[in-house]
Amino acid sequence: MKGKKLISVIASVLLVGAMFAGCGSSKTATASNGKKKIVLGFAQVGAESGWRTAETNSIKEIPKNHPNITLKFSDAQQKQENQIKAIRSFIAQKVDVIAIDPVVETGWDTVLKEAKDAKIPVIIVDRSVNSDQSLYKAFLGSNMEAEGKRAAKIVIDHFGKDKPCNIAEIQGTVGSSAAVGRQKGFNEAIKDYSNIKIVKSESGDFLRAKGKEVMEAFLKSSEGSKINCLWSHNDDMGVGAIQAIKEAGKKPGSDIFIVSVDGIKDMFKLMSQGESNGIVECNPLLGPQLADTAEAIVEGKSIQKFVESNEKDYLQDQAAAELPNRKY
Ligand code: AHR
Repeated sequence: MKGKKLISVIASVLLVGAMFAGCGSSKTATASNGKKKIVLGFAQVGAESGWRTAETNSIKEIPKNHPNITLKFSDAQQKQENQIKAIRSFIAQKVDVIAIDPVVETGWDTVLKEAKDAKIPVIIVDRSVNSDQSLYKAFLGSNMEAEGKRAAKIVIDHFGKDKPCNIAEIQGTVGSSAAVGRQKGFNEAIKDYSNIKIVKSESGDFLRAKGKEVMEAFLKSSEGSKINCLWSHNDDMGVGAIQAIKEAGKKPGSDIFIVSVDGIKDMFKLMSQGESNGIVECNPLLGPQLADTAEAIVEGKSIQKFVESNEKDYLQDQAAAELPNRKY
Protein backbone atom coordinates (compact mmCIF):
# COMPACT_ATOMS: atom_id res chain seq x y z
CA MET A 1 0.00 0.00 0.00
CA LYS A 2 2.80 2.38 1.03
CA GLY A 3 4.68 1.50 -2.19
CA LYS A 4 1.58 2.24 -4.33
CA LYS A 5 1.15 5.64 -2.65
CA LEU A 6 4.78 6.51 -3.31
CA ILE A 7 4.42 5.58 -6.98
CA SER A 8 1.31 7.73 -7.36
CA VAL A 9 3.06 10.71 -5.64
CA ILE A 10 6.05 10.34 -7.99
CA ALA A 11 3.70 10.11 -10.99
CA SER A 12 1.90 13.32 -9.95
CA VAL A 13 5.21 15.15 -9.48
CA LEU A 14 6.37 14.03 -12.92
CA LEU A 15 3.05 15.11 -14.51
CA VAL A 16 3.19 18.60 -12.96
CA GLY A 17 6.86 18.88 -13.98
CA ALA A 18 5.98 17.94 -17.55
CA MET A 19 3.17 20.54 -17.58
CA PHE A 20 5.55 23.30 -16.47
CA ALA A 21 8.16 22.22 -18.99
CA GLY A 22 5.46 22.56 -21.67
CA CYS A 23 4.65 26.12 -20.58
CA GLY A 24 8.26 27.21 -21.15
CA SER A 25 8.50 25.92 -24.71
CA SER A 26 6.87 27.91 -27.49
CA LYS A 27 6.79 24.71 -29.55
CA THR A 28 4.13 23.10 -27.34
CA ALA A 29 2.29 26.05 -25.80
CA THR A 30 -0.90 27.58 -27.17
CA ALA A 31 -1.74 31.30 -27.16
CA SER A 32 -5.03 33.10 -26.34
CA ASN A 33 -6.11 32.80 -29.98
CA GLY A 34 -5.81 29.00 -29.78
CA LYS A 35 -2.78 28.94 -32.07
CA LYS A 36 0.68 27.58 -31.30
CA LYS A 37 3.00 30.14 -29.73
CA ILE A 38 5.81 31.12 -32.07
CA VAL A 39 8.99 33.07 -31.44
CA LEU A 40 9.97 34.71 -34.72
CA GLY A 41 13.42 36.25 -35.19
CA PHE A 42 13.61 38.85 -37.97
CA ALA A 43 17.00 39.98 -39.30
CA GLN A 44 16.33 43.31 -41.03
CA VAL A 45 18.70 45.03 -43.51
CA GLY A 46 18.63 48.48 -41.91
CA ALA A 47 16.68 51.72 -42.21
CA GLU A 48 18.05 53.06 -45.49
CA SER A 49 14.82 54.10 -47.23
CA GLY A 50 11.13 54.94 -46.92
CA TRP A 51 10.42 51.49 -48.35
CA ARG A 52 12.48 49.87 -45.59
CA THR A 53 10.68 51.85 -42.87
CA ALA A 54 7.35 50.68 -44.29
CA GLU A 55 8.54 47.07 -44.29
CA THR A 56 9.84 47.33 -40.71
CA ASN A 57 6.49 48.81 -39.56
CA SER A 58 4.59 46.02 -41.30
CA ILE A 59 6.77 43.35 -39.62
CA LYS A 60 6.48 45.04 -36.20
CA GLU A 61 2.66 44.96 -36.52
CA ILE A 62 2.71 41.14 -36.59
CA PRO A 63 2.23 40.53 -32.83
CA LYS A 64 -0.78 42.91 -32.80
CA ASN A 65 -2.71 40.76 -35.26
CA HIS A 66 -1.12 37.45 -34.25
CA PRO A 67 -0.96 37.36 -30.43
CA ASN A 68 0.63 33.89 -30.66
CA ILE A 69 3.74 35.38 -32.32
CA THR A 70 6.52 37.02 -30.32
CA LEU A 71 8.84 39.05 -32.54
CA LYS A 72 12.57 39.45 -31.99
CA PHE A 73 13.70 42.22 -34.34
CA SER A 74 17.27 43.06 -35.29
CA ASP A 75 18.48 45.99 -37.47
CA ALA A 76 21.80 45.22 -39.23
CA GLN A 77 22.51 48.77 -40.37
CA GLN A 78 23.15 47.54 -43.94
CA LYS A 79 25.99 45.22 -42.79
CA GLN A 80 25.95 41.51 -43.60
CA GLU A 81 28.18 40.65 -40.62
CA ASN A 82 25.57 42.20 -38.29
CA GLN A 83 22.82 40.12 -39.91
CA ILE A 84 24.87 36.93 -39.51
CA LYS A 85 25.47 37.77 -35.82
CA ALA A 86 21.72 38.34 -35.34
CA ILE A 87 20.86 35.00 -36.99
CA ARG A 88 23.39 33.18 -34.77
CA SER A 89 21.85 34.84 -31.74
CA PHE A 90 18.35 33.72 -32.84
CA ILE A 91 19.71 30.17 -33.20
CA ALA A 92 21.26 30.33 -29.70
CA GLN A 93 17.92 31.56 -28.30
CA LYS A 94 16.18 28.60 -30.01
CA VAL A 95 13.54 30.73 -31.73
CA ASP A 96 10.90 28.79 -33.68
CA VAL A 97 11.31 30.54 -37.04
CA ILE A 98 13.97 32.86 -38.48
CA ALA A 99 13.15 35.39 -41.20
CA ILE A 100 15.94 37.15 -43.07
CA ASP A 101 15.83 40.13 -45.41
CA PRO A 102 19.35 39.63 -46.78
CA VAL A 103 21.36 42.78 -47.49
CA VAL A 104 23.34 41.02 -50.26
CA GLU A 105 22.76 37.84 -52.26
CA THR A 106 25.89 35.83 -51.43
CA GLY A 107 27.65 34.57 -48.29
CA TRP A 108 24.73 32.95 -46.48
CA ASP A 109 25.45 29.22 -46.86
CA THR A 110 27.26 28.66 -43.55
CA VAL A 111 24.75 30.42 -41.32
CA LEU A 112 21.77 28.91 -43.17
CA LYS A 113 23.30 25.45 -42.62
CA GLU A 114 23.67 26.30 -38.91
CA ALA A 115 19.95 27.13 -38.74
CA LYS A 116 19.08 23.95 -40.61
CA ASP A 117 21.24 21.84 -38.25
CA ALA A 118 19.42 23.48 -35.31
CA LYS A 119 16.12 22.52 -37.03
CA ILE A 120 14.97 26.14 -37.20
CA PRO A 121 13.06 26.90 -40.42
CA VAL A 122 14.16 30.00 -42.34
CA ILE A 123 12.00 32.31 -44.47
CA ILE A 124 13.74 34.70 -46.88
CA VAL A 125 11.89 38.01 -47.21
CA ASP A 126 12.12 40.77 -49.88
CA ARG A 127 15.66 40.26 -51.23
CA SER A 128 16.76 36.83 -52.40
CA VAL A 129 19.89 34.75 -51.66
CA ASN A 130 22.09 32.71 -54.01
CA SER A 131 22.15 29.74 -51.61
CA ASP A 132 20.80 26.26 -52.23
CA GLN A 133 17.01 26.35 -51.98
CA SER A 134 17.02 23.44 -49.53
CA LEU A 135 18.50 25.81 -46.93
CA TYR A 136 15.30 27.83 -46.58
CA LYS A 137 11.59 27.05 -46.49
CA ALA A 138 10.14 29.95 -48.46
CA PHE A 139 10.84 33.23 -50.24
CA LEU A 140 8.32 36.09 -49.97
CA GLY A 141 8.92 39.21 -52.03
CA SER A 142 9.28 40.87 -55.39
CA ASN A 143 10.75 39.72 -58.66
CA MET A 144 13.54 42.29 -58.92
CA GLU A 145 14.46 41.39 -62.50
CA ALA A 146 10.84 41.89 -63.55
CA GLU A 147 10.87 45.29 -61.81
CA GLY A 148 13.89 46.32 -63.91
CA LYS A 149 12.05 45.21 -67.06
CA ARG A 150 8.93 47.14 -66.04
CA ALA A 151 11.03 50.30 -65.49
CA ALA A 152 12.63 49.84 -68.92
CA LYS A 153 9.20 49.49 -70.54
CA ILE A 154 8.19 52.91 -69.19
CA VAL A 155 11.38 54.38 -70.72
CA ILE A 156 10.90 52.54 -74.03
CA ASP A 157 7.25 53.60 -74.26
CA HIS A 158 8.37 57.23 -73.93
CA PHE A 159 11.50 57.29 -76.14
CA GLY A 160 10.49 54.66 -78.69
CA LYS A 161 13.04 53.38 -81.22
CA ASP A 162 14.29 56.73 -82.50
CA LYS A 163 14.47 59.48 -79.84
CA PRO A 164 17.97 59.54 -78.26
CA CYS A 165 17.82 58.52 -74.63
CA ASN A 166 20.95 58.97 -72.52
CA ILE A 167 20.39 57.35 -69.16
CA ALA A 168 21.97 58.10 -65.81
CA GLU A 169 21.49 54.98 -63.67
CA ILE A 170 21.67 55.19 -59.87
CA GLN A 171 22.07 51.66 -58.59
CA GLY A 172 21.05 50.30 -55.22
CA THR A 173 23.36 48.54 -52.75
CA VAL A 174 26.09 46.66 -54.63
CA GLY A 175 25.54 42.90 -54.45
CA SER A 176 21.93 43.15 -53.24
CA SER A 177 19.39 41.14 -55.22
CA ALA A 178 17.37 44.35 -55.58
CA ALA A 179 20.22 46.12 -57.42
CA VAL A 180 21.51 43.07 -59.32
CA GLY A 181 18.05 41.99 -60.49
CA ARG A 182 16.76 45.46 -61.39
CA GLN A 183 19.91 46.27 -63.37
CA LYS A 184 19.81 42.92 -65.20
CA GLY A 185 16.13 43.22 -66.09
CA PHE A 186 16.45 46.81 -67.30
CA ASN A 187 19.57 46.19 -69.41
CA GLU A 188 18.03 43.08 -70.93
CA ALA A 189 14.92 45.02 -71.95
CA ILE A 190 16.74 47.93 -73.61
CA LYS A 191 19.38 45.85 -75.43
CA ASP A 192 17.64 46.00 -78.82
CA TYR A 193 17.14 49.79 -78.72
CA SER A 194 20.25 51.44 -80.13
CA ASN A 195 18.88 54.91 -79.25
CA ILE A 196 18.65 54.01 -75.52
CA LYS A 197 22.02 54.01 -73.74
CA ILE A 198 23.27 54.02 -70.15
CA VAL A 199 25.85 56.81 -70.15
CA LYS A 200 26.51 56.93 -66.39
CA SER A 201 26.02 54.31 -63.68
CA GLU A 202 26.95 54.30 -60.00
CA SER A 203 25.63 53.05 -56.68
CA GLY A 204 23.78 55.35 -54.31
CA ASP A 205 23.31 52.51 -51.75
CA PHE A 206 19.50 53.08 -51.78
CA LEU A 207 20.05 56.28 -49.76
CA ARG A 208 18.41 59.65 -50.53
CA ALA A 209 21.54 61.68 -49.66
CA LYS A 210 23.78 59.48 -51.81
CA GLY A 211 21.30 59.66 -54.70
CA LYS A 212 21.66 63.44 -54.62
CA GLU A 213 25.47 63.25 -54.43
CA VAL A 214 25.71 60.77 -57.31
CA MET A 215 23.37 62.81 -59.54
CA GLU A 216 25.31 66.02 -58.80
CA ALA A 217 28.50 64.28 -59.94
CA PHE A 218 26.78 62.88 -63.06
CA LEU A 219 25.51 66.32 -64.07
CA LYS A 220 28.95 67.87 -63.59
CA SER A 221 30.68 65.13 -65.64
CA SER A 222 31.54 65.42 -69.34
CA GLU A 223 28.35 63.44 -70.19
CA GLY A 224 26.24 65.61 -67.88
CA SER A 225 24.74 67.85 -70.54
CA LYS A 226 23.42 64.95 -72.63
CA ILE A 227 21.65 63.10 -69.77
CA ASN A 228 17.92 63.18 -70.51
CA CYS A 229 16.76 60.19 -68.48
CA LEU A 230 17.25 59.03 -64.90
CA TRP A 231 16.77 55.39 -63.93
CA SER A 232 16.92 55.11 -60.15
CA HIS A 233 16.81 51.69 -58.46
CA ASN A 234 14.68 53.21 -55.69
CA ASP A 235 12.51 56.24 -55.00
CA ASP A 236 14.63 57.68 -52.20
CA MET A 237 17.71 58.01 -54.43
CA GLY A 238 15.38 59.43 -57.09
CA VAL A 239 14.06 62.05 -54.66
CA GLY A 240 17.66 63.05 -53.83
CA ALA A 241 18.55 63.15 -57.54
CA ILE A 242 15.52 65.35 -58.32
CA GLN A 243 16.88 67.85 -55.80
CA ALA A 244 20.27 67.77 -57.55
CA ILE A 245 18.62 68.24 -60.97
CA LYS A 246 16.73 71.31 -59.71
CA GLU A 247 19.86 72.76 -58.12
CA ALA A 248 21.61 72.33 -61.49
CA GLY A 249 18.91 74.50 -63.06
CA LYS A 250 17.14 71.70 -64.94
CA LYS A 251 13.53 70.57 -64.79
CA PRO A 252 13.01 67.04 -63.46
CA GLY A 253 10.20 65.28 -65.29
CA SER A 254 10.63 67.33 -68.48
CA ASP A 255 14.36 68.06 -69.17
CA ILE A 256 15.11 64.71 -67.58
CA PHE A 257 12.62 61.82 -67.79
CA ILE A 258 12.58 59.95 -64.47
CA VAL A 259 11.68 56.37 -63.53
CA SER A 260 12.24 54.73 -60.16
CA VAL A 261 11.13 51.75 -58.08
CA ASP A 262 9.15 51.50 -54.79
CA GLY A 263 6.07 53.73 -54.68
CA ILE A 264 6.67 55.80 -51.54
CA LYS A 265 4.43 58.83 -50.87
CA ASP A 266 7.30 61.32 -51.36
CA MET A 267 7.85 60.16 -54.93
CA PHE A 268 4.12 60.06 -55.70
CA LYS A 269 3.92 63.65 -54.49
CA LEU A 270 6.77 64.74 -56.78
CA MET A 271 5.24 62.82 -59.69
CA SER A 272 1.87 64.48 -59.08
CA GLN A 273 3.72 67.82 -59.42
CA GLY A 274 5.20 66.73 -62.77
CA GLU A 275 8.71 66.13 -61.41
CA SER A 276 8.90 62.43 -62.18
CA ASN A 277 7.44 60.22 -64.91
CA GLY A 278 7.06 56.63 -63.79
CA ILE A 279 7.01 54.52 -60.64
CA VAL A 280 7.42 50.75 -60.54
CA GLU A 281 5.76 49.63 -57.34
CA CYS A 282 7.61 47.25 -54.98
CA ASN A 283 5.50 46.05 -52.07
CA PRO A 284 7.05 46.44 -48.58
CA LEU A 285 3.94 45.40 -46.62
CA LEU A 286 5.12 41.85 -46.10
CA GLY A 287 4.24 41.39 -42.40
CA PRO A 288 0.86 39.61 -42.83
CA GLN A 289 2.28 37.13 -45.36
CA LEU A 290 5.30 36.45 -43.18
CA ALA A 291 3.10 35.75 -40.15
CA ASP A 292 0.87 33.37 -42.11
CA THR A 293 3.85 31.53 -43.57
CA ALA A 294 5.57 31.18 -40.16
CA GLU A 295 2.34 29.80 -38.67
CA ALA A 296 1.84 27.35 -41.51
CA ILE A 297 5.41 26.07 -41.17
CA VAL A 298 5.11 25.59 -37.39
CA GLU A 299 1.73 23.85 -37.83
CA GLY A 300 3.29 21.51 -40.40
CA LYS A 301 1.04 22.70 -43.21
CA SER A 302 2.28 22.75 -46.79
CA ILE A 303 3.42 26.15 -48.07
CA GLN A 304 4.30 27.70 -51.39
CA LYS A 305 8.09 27.97 -51.76
CA PHE A 306 8.07 31.23 -53.76
CA VAL A 307 5.39 33.85 -53.17
CA GLU A 308 5.75 36.85 -55.48
CA SER A 309 4.22 40.20 -54.48
CA ASN A 310 1.46 41.75 -56.53
CA GLU A 311 2.56 45.15 -57.82
CA LYS A 312 1.55 47.87 -60.28
CA ASP A 313 3.25 50.54 -62.38
CA TYR A 314 2.17 54.20 -62.29
CA LEU A 315 2.64 57.01 -64.79
CA GLN A 316 2.57 60.76 -64.19
CA ASP A 317 -1.12 61.19 -65.08
CA GLN A 318 -2.12 58.63 -62.40
CA ALA A 319 -0.05 60.10 -59.55
CA ALA A 320 -2.50 62.66 -58.09
CA ALA A 321 -5.35 60.15 -57.92
CA GLU A 322 -3.15 57.45 -56.38
CA LEU A 323 -1.39 59.66 -53.80
CA PRO A 324 -4.17 59.54 -51.14
CA ASN A 325 -4.26 55.72 -51.40
CA ARG A 326 -0.61 55.18 -50.67
CA LYS A 327 0.00 53.35 -47.40
CA TYR A 328 3.73 54.08 -47.23
O1 AHR B 1 14.98 45.44 -51.21
C1 AHR B 1 14.06 46.41 -51.50
C2 AHR B 1 14.76 47.69 -51.74
O2 AHR B 1 15.51 48.02 -50.62
C3 AHR B 1 13.87 48.89 -51.97
O3 AHR B 1 13.56 49.10 -53.29
C4 AHR B 1 14.75 49.98 -51.48
O4 AHR B 1 14.09 51.21 -51.28
C5 AHR B 1 15.25 49.36 -50.24
O5 AHR B 1 16.26 49.99 -49.64
